[in-house]
Amino acid sequence: MTVLIRLMLGSACRRALSAATLAGFVIATAAAGADRTVQTPSIFAPASAPAYAIRELTLIVFGITGVIFLVVAGLTVYAIMRFRRRRGDDGREPPQVYGSLQIELAWTVVPILIVVVLFLVTTRYIFAIEGRPPAPEALEVTIVGHQWWWEIRYPKLGIVTANELHVPLSDPARPTPTFLTLQSADVIHSFWIPQLAGKMDVIPNKTNRIWIDPQKPGGYVGQCAEYCGLQHAGMLLIVTVHSREDFAKWAAEQQAPARDDAGVRAGRELFSSLSCINCHAIRGTTANGVFGPDLTHLMSRWTIGAGVIQNTPENIRAWIDDPASLKPGALMPAMKLSRGDLDKVTAYLVSLR
Ligand code: CUA
Repeated sequence: MTVLIRLMLGSACRRALSAATLAGFVIATAAAGADRTVQTPSIFAPASAPAYAIRELTLIVFGITGVIFLVVAGLTVYAIMRFRRRRGDDGREPPQVYGSLQIELAWTVVPILIVVVLFLVTTRYIFAIEGRPPAPEALEVTIVGHQWWWEIRYPKLGIVTANELHVPLSDPARPTPTFLTLQSADVIHSFWIPQLAGKMDVIPNKTNRIWIDPQKPGGYVGQCAEYCGLQHAGMLLIVTVHSREDFAKWAAEQQAPARDDAGVRAGRELFSSLSCINCHAIRGTTANGVFGPDLTHLMSRWTIGAGVIQNTPENIRAWIDDPASLKPGALMPAMKLSRGDLDKVTAYLVSLR
């Protein structure tokens, strides 16, 4: 897991991620009522119907291409051994064969047939995955790719969050799939959670759809899979699959209005007077910007900057002070606040649980 996260996060971000941060991340995942560990996102460890189908197809393709490899490599090794130079060879060129209709037909028709078989098998799987209509009980989520984070909206539940997708477990006996509508606010991104579904491009001015039906509770990680600028590697996706009850609990918490803690009023007023509110929304306040992540329940998330750094008060303070020091290229400007104001705004944001 450590290796994976480090690979996923760009080298610039790696500096910001200490071993302690990673340990904290794994523990936080565990505390969320999920599995004890976050699984490595291998397509060979699927947990959702589209991912099972992709593994099946991969094994079929590996099987066919493996046989081809064995035949070709076997014949090559045989030819090398059987016809190698021996002592006493006369040094003449062996007989050359030109224009054999049989041989040429064989090496044209057989590969074409293999390609047709691979094409048909793949098409069958693609249609089987894409043809599934959204069931009435399906959860609808809209994901908007941004440079460089993921906006996550639950239109029917009235929830808006960022970078961390929460979905209910889908029991095969009583399926509750999640249908994702993918949109982009700027450039082409690609949504990919290897254990749950295939990759799907996230394209400006085009809406793509994908679905997942996670059959094992736990945490899953994914990553933007289409180069989208400097922080392409800083677009981590964290998925938590909850039991039905836990998901309802999470949704209720997210639906609650932002906390209005009297102790941090000064910070709240300061925040409302700053340009923060042009980009960020906090439900129930004058902050209703849409360019940056919704902060209504900021502290319910494990990371800030889409997986770049763990979500702690110290890191929030450092982020407000200068996001680029943690995530070079981040579009949020350094807020240039006085130390006192920085403390007030941090205290307010940290109260948003
Ligand atoms: Cu977004 Cu790569």
